Amino acid sequence: MKKLLSIITIFALGLSSTAQDLPAGGPPPPTGGQLMQQTPDVFIPLETKNTSLILRVNGRDGRIYQSYLGPKLASIDNLKQTRDAGHPAYATFGTDNLFEPAVRATHNDGNPSLELKYISHSFEKSSGGNSDINLSRIILKDPVYPFEVTLIFKTYDNEDVIEQWVEIKHSEKKPVTIFNYASSMLHFDADKYWLTQFHGDWAEEMKMQESLLTAGIKILDTKLGTRAHMYQTPVFMLSLNEKSDEYTGQVIAGTLGWSGNFRFLFEVDEKGSLRVISGINPFASEYSLDAGKVFKTPSMIFTYSEHGKGEASRNLHRWATRYGVLDGTGSRMTILNNWEATGFNFDEKKLSSILDDTKKLGLDVFLLDDGWFANKYPRNNDRAGLGDWQENRAKLPNGLGYLVKEADAKGVRFGIWIEPEMVNPKSELYETHPDWILRLPNRPEHYYRNQLVLDLTNPKVQEFVYNVVDGMLSTNPGISFIKWDCNRMMTNAYSVYLKDRQSHLYIDYVNCLYGILDRLRQKYPHLPVMLCSGGGGRVDYGALKYFTEFWASDNTDALERVYVQWGYSYFFPAISVCNHVTSWGKQSLKFRTDVAMMGKLGYDIEVDKMTENELKFSQNAIANYNRIKDIIYKGDLFRLISPYEENRAVMMYVNELRNRAVLFGYTLNSRYGETFNPVKLQGLDPGKTYKVQEINVSNDGRRGPGMGGPGMSQGGRSYTGDFLMKVGINIGSNTPLTSVVYEITE
Ligand code: DGJ
Repeated sequence: MKKLLSIITIFALGLSSTAQDLPAGGPPPPTGGQLMQQTPDVFIPLETKNTSLILRVNGRDGRIYQSYLGPKLASIDNLKQTRDAGHPAYATFGTDNLFEPAVRATHNDGNPSLELKYISHSFEKSSGGNSDINLSRIILKDPVYPFEVTLIFKTYDNEDVIEQWVEIKHSEKKPVTIFNYASSMLHFDADKYWLTQFHGDWAEEMKMQESLLTAGIKILDTKLGTRAHMYQTPVFMLSLNEKSDEYTGQVIAGTLGWSGNFRFLFEVDEKGSLRVISGINPFASEYSLDAGKVFKTPSMIFTYSEHGKGEASRNLHRWATRYGVLDGTGSRMTILNNWEATGFNFDEKKLSSILDDTKKLGLDVFLLDDGWFANKYPRNNDRAGLGDWQENRAKLPNGLGYLVKEADAKGVRFGIWIEPEMVNPKSELYETHPDWILRLPNRPEHYYRNQLVLDLTNPKVQEFVYNVVDGMLSTNPGISFIKWDCNRMMTNAYSVYLKDRQSHLYIDYVNCLYGILDRLRQKYPHLPVMLCSGGGGRVDYGALKYFTEFWASDNTDALERVYVQWGYSYFFPAISVCNHVTSWGKQSLKFRTDVAMMGKLGYDIEVDKMTENELKFSQNAIANYNRIKDIIYKGDLFRLISPYEENRAVMMYVNELRNRAVLFGYTLNSRYGETFNPVKLQGLDPGKTYKVQEINVSNDGRRGPGMGGPGMSQGGRSYTGDFLMKVGINIGSNTPLTSVVYEITE
């Protein structure tokens, strides 16, 4: 990213900041001298290619308001002549705000109120080129207490994405307790608000549900600490007035970049206005902020679309590949994982044969999963060994180094699974460092998957975790891939290290995790690492800056997977979503392969049990995938037919030049006599002529009649983009669980 150029503009109202060093007893009462003179309103436009978010400093009271959020305004002149609804841009608590605040603090003298007045703002303009990022900082201060809040907006012009975070600091004598510390507060005035949320559980991630917001508060949140998104992913879509679809409707898609407890609060007030407050979940997390320290909130990332959910997703994908996911504009390696195939039951000989299988299939990496470590309490099941990161001598007598060399000799890469934030009570780590573990005094330990969470707030534990990874990579520099797992949520939430600041735990844990990842990324900037959390229990853009991809779900039944991947597709680009072909589902190998291909393809299957036909089919499919994966990774996604609306699911990716596309069609079920309408394609150039060629053609007899539609089969035919987008092609079969993949080339 280009370095941001120097600050362009600084405005300041005639408000003086009284950052005096107040006595611990509190400030003197406000005097008449502190009342402001009326000054003209100041307008602060925060804009992208198609969106305007306009803030206004009211010259009368010095406070900052959201004046407008919506499609880009040609000019703000008329806005200046009108009165807006007076929605606070960052509402405080304790003075006159009657609704949920964005920020709440209690000062040294016990005063529980906060007032924030505008001081100044500045813009930094990016130097252009590909990136077109503007950074705006708006400084607000309490007129009587030395307490400062900076609202920071990063606008991504080309991507139509706005990122907002907040920095809070003070210079009072003693620590100030902050109870609320939102990342952003947005307001909407519409007739109706339709909220789409994505929730679930282990093996059923990202279930999509839409509901009408009614008067009062609706909260989407998590209190799980680690594996924080197991039940609720930190994402939402909000449609204004009417429900939106893929192409029409006003939609805001938002996501919080935070790998811990988050909260989105939607409050519809007595006038029907909606305020959306997004940030870290303040639950059990009041924060005692020392003078001079900066409390930085995570980023709220959002986009506004006038053209439905499809455009909102494409905006987020473009942003994510460029700025949200580590090496998001690069490529990805295909994987053979052994978790589903072997579980904990393997040895060196078995692994060596899986390395051969990796090569035989044409995959890039063999990823050795859980079970390779610990000696005193060998990791032969999930009840022992976690925390003891030495190779298990019975399973790997020659160590990891031997496997890395074997992989090299066989022409594949070697990857490895770790779960460095956790410990089994049956481990040497537990025996040696009981104080490194989150456990409650005077209470029995509560386990989940037989394990406990390490106390990452303790610098010694941070060092340990760093060294687990760094030690392994330094000893075995050939390791080319890591899967970083996190299999439990936080209970027993008590840190010996934090002493009387227990309510910092949920927040400090995440920041300390980021600190370790920062350090690792300085040393290993581009090593591919998969983010995993017992499936998709930790998926967010706070983590994805450090990770190249994430494990979407342990559920690899291809029918279920269509829904899981569909859910993630609203917010996360295909390059980041790992999908493996396994034996979970009863569907044909073709169906399982076609489903896994719509994101980042991998395998976790017993290759030695494959028939010759299956092997050939898979080798061919992997070769196809390698040819088309750049379209999937970098192309625009169009969700054509939703599995939530029909018995089929169809989506396609189109590359930037619109000369290559890939279409995935799945028949999920088929009722007696059911017919499917032709599917109109999207995103193509109407003036171009495309060859539509079916790939991944299976000879297992389960392709399903009519799947390709007339003339759409292997031979391929040519059609104009105009025809494909206006008339469409037949996709759908009367045989359930069949699928088709079309490679579409100019
Ligand atoms: C949970 C992950 O989601 C699985 O893929 C696997 O890595 C297991 N953990 C291993 O314990």
